[in-house]
Amino acid sequence: MAEVSTATPSPYNRKNPYLAELIRHERLTKSGSGKDTRHFVLNLAGSGLKYTPGDSLAVFGRNSPRLVDEIIRLTGFDPSSPVTVKDSLGQPKSVPFHQALSENFILNRATKKILAGIEERIQQGEQRNRLMEIVDNDELQADYVYTRDYVDVLKEFDEAKFESPEVFLTQLSPIPPRLYSIASSLAAHPDEVHLCIAIVRYETHGREKTGLCSGFFADHAEMHKRNIPIYVQESRHFRLPKDSARDIIMVGPGTGIAPFRAFLEQRAADGAKGRNWLFFGEQHRASDFFYEAEFDAWQKKGVLTRFDTAFSRDQAQKIYVQNRMLENAKEIWAWLQGGAYFYVCGDAHRMAKDVHHALIDIARDHGGLSPEAAAEYVNVTLMKTDKRYLRDVY
Ligand SMILES: Cc1cc2nc3c(=O)[nH]c(=O)nc-3n(C[C@H](O)[C@H](O)[C@H](O)COP(=O)(O)OP(=O)(O)OC[C@H]3O[C@@H](n4cnc5c(N)ncnc54)[C@H](O)[C@@H]3O)c2cc1C
Ligand SMILES: NC(=O)c1ccc[n+]([C@@H]2O[C@H](COP(=O)([O-])OP(=O)(O)OC[C@H]3O[C@@H](n4cnc5c(N)ncnc54)[C@H](OP(=O)(O)O)[C@@H]3O)[C@@H](O)[C@H]2O)c1
Repeated sequence: MAEVSTATPSPYNRKNPYLAELIRHERLTKSGSGKDTRHFVLNLAGSGLKYTPGDSLAVFGRNSPRLVDEIIRLTGFDPSSPVTVKDSLGQPKSVPFHQALSENFILNRATKKILAGIEERIQQGEQRNRLMEIVDNDELQADYVYTRDYVDVLKEFDEAKFESPEVFLTQLSPIPPRLYSIASSLAAHPDEVHLCIAIVRYETHGREKTGLCSGFFADHAEMHKRNIPIYVQESRHFRLPKDSARDIIMVGPGTGIAPFRAFLEQRAADGAKGRNWLFFGEQHRASDFFYEAEFDAWQKKGVLTRFDTAFSRDQAQKIYVQNRMLENAKEIWAWLQGGAYFYVCGDAHRMAKDVHHALIDIARDHGGLSPEAAAEYVNVTLMKTDKRYLRDVY
């Protein structure tokens, strides 16, 4: 079977999202884990929505009800006051203040805009002096807003009073959709889309904070209600090889595993002849081995030809996916020489860069190439000419 086709354009997009229903939700991390990573399943039945492994799902999250209530209390406005917001098509519509706070504006991360708004409305005195100290120093201001939400800011500068709910809303920024790499194949789960999400949780200034969208999924999304706005963000390049007899190597630590679960489901459904090699990494085998039973079953069925894990914190020295790659360098080189595709998904800041360097080292040491020729092979031949080094990193 070929890839699931997305030939018919989806009727749903950023301006016209589909309201999906959450039908399953389970923890992937077990007790003792330092993380909270979860698996979510949304129902697409009747939507006509299609996707291909490698695509992402865009989701509009909503703010935590507690944060909304706190903002209402601190601003002192009536939660039912009508305010005008823009709908997804950019048209004005009237909604109650509390709904606008919940659905339309970011509340969990302050911006410089709110400080400027407060500056215009605060009298001479201690609070104004403190505010001016912050806004007159770019570095201090950036650090100040980075660690605070609007509750922290409104509490600290409670002398500033906004004229109306609508004026207050002009100080906020609209909620953009968040992207999640799709963790399922329609061939294995018709009418469903699966996500693997690391819930962002941290504490600053004595208050627990959560990421807007990951926190929404974990703590506030209601089951069996069609009220989660989504659309499919098609990937232009992150795709399985058209020729299913090609081998693939997948490197996906943490939530980077998501698209590779989808790839393996698709390859199994297609009866693909190509071999599949997966590198997965997380902190601890006992608590963070996501989808362990599924990978075990795929290994037994022969779908997963090779599976290497790197549990970084199970020993004194960190072991990462790139260490496992280097231990298997000769074989990786042989797979690449045989035309294998190489995929990386997950953290862009450190992991993807280190994996990239490991790949260049493998080309140098096992391809007998100079350091420059090895870099050229990875950066140009694999990535640009052959287009078989593909990344989905964030
Ligand atoms: C193509 C693509 C695919 C993706 N796929 C996935 C995926 O499959 N799974 C997944 O989990 N994520 C994925 N992401 C990331 C995802 O889109 C979101 O960025 C992530 O879930 C965080 O969003 P949020 O709304 O929960 O958090 P936000 O409300 O955006 O908050 C996150 C921010 O909180 C801040 N923060 C975090 N810790 C602290 C701290 N200690 N102090 C102060 N500030 C802090 C950071 O600035 C961070 O950027 C993907 C991103 C892209 C672009
Ligand atoms: N804002 C936050 O609070 C927060 C927290 C975590 C992740 N993130 C971001 O969220 C995304 C996904 O996070 P995630 O939870 O899925 O997993 P992740 O943080 O990428 O961690 C997955 C595994 O990768 C390891 N790792 C760390 N640095 C690495 C490197 N340079 N090379 C290879 N492996 C490395 C981790 O080890 P160690 O942890 O032992 O180093 C862990 O075993 C990333 O973009 C990450 O930056 C944000």
